Amino acid sequence: MSSLEICLSHELIHQHDLKNKIVVVTDVFRATSCIVAGIQHGIEAIKPVIEVEVCREYQSKGYLAGGERHALMIEGFDLDNSPFSYMKPEAIGKKVVMTTTNGTLAIDKSKQDADQVLVASFSNLSATANYLKSQGQSVVVVCAGWKGHPGLEDVLFGGALAKSLENTFELEGDSTHLALSTYTVAENNLLDYLQRASHLKRLKNLSGGKDIPFCLEIDLYDVVVGLNTVGELVKLA
Ligand code: MLT
Repeated sequence: MSSLEICLSHELIHQHDLKNKIVVVTDVFRATSCIVAGIQHGIEAIKPVIEVEVCREYQSKGYLAGGERHALMIEGFDLDNSPFSYMKPEAIGKKVVMTTTNGTLAIDKSKQDADQVLVASFSNLSATANYLKSQGQSVVVVCAGWKGHPGLEDVLFGGALAKSLENTFELEGDSTHLALSTYTVAENNLLDYLQRASHLKRLKNLSGGKDIPFCLEIDLYDVVVGLNTVGELVKLA
């Protein structure tokens, strides 16, 4: 039986063996929610990078530049880090290069050893779970968190994915059971539960308060998003 384990922060990634596995990176608030929304709404591909300067280089080659530092839009960029920005008509059919504090870093660290890297959020929870069932490979869910600390919203997504897959995958590791138990407590009202989350407090007043409820909507999209061979995030299924 294939296994599923949860890594609570990208700083703990060295404690997980990613070889021959599919890694699912999640950064619910907001990087992976932006990416999934953008791909679903017709962005051709999103290149995740770590450095702002690398984004600027791609921007000069015609990519739109998106992302954040301190949760705010970066000077000279085209898109901030709100999922609604990735649905704008001017982004449709374009390639985007993106850098965020934790999400794109988690993707970068994951791609070093994994067989395949997916990005997911509540918006494509079931599509991602069904894809993983069809692959028959073990899975590590990498929660981006915030600067090395676990983020409750990412832990809840990990728990939700573990719950969807608990009959098909062997759940491994105490972090996985911690996430599953936390999701079981919170699942009836994620927004209410997350009032105590540190990143929710940071983001609360951005984008007119729309981002947080949007990022917690479950199964808005039937899309699977992952890295292709040139390191760009595209629609896989
Ligand atoms: C991150 O990658 O740290 C987040 O997406 C930041 C944010 O939500 O603005």
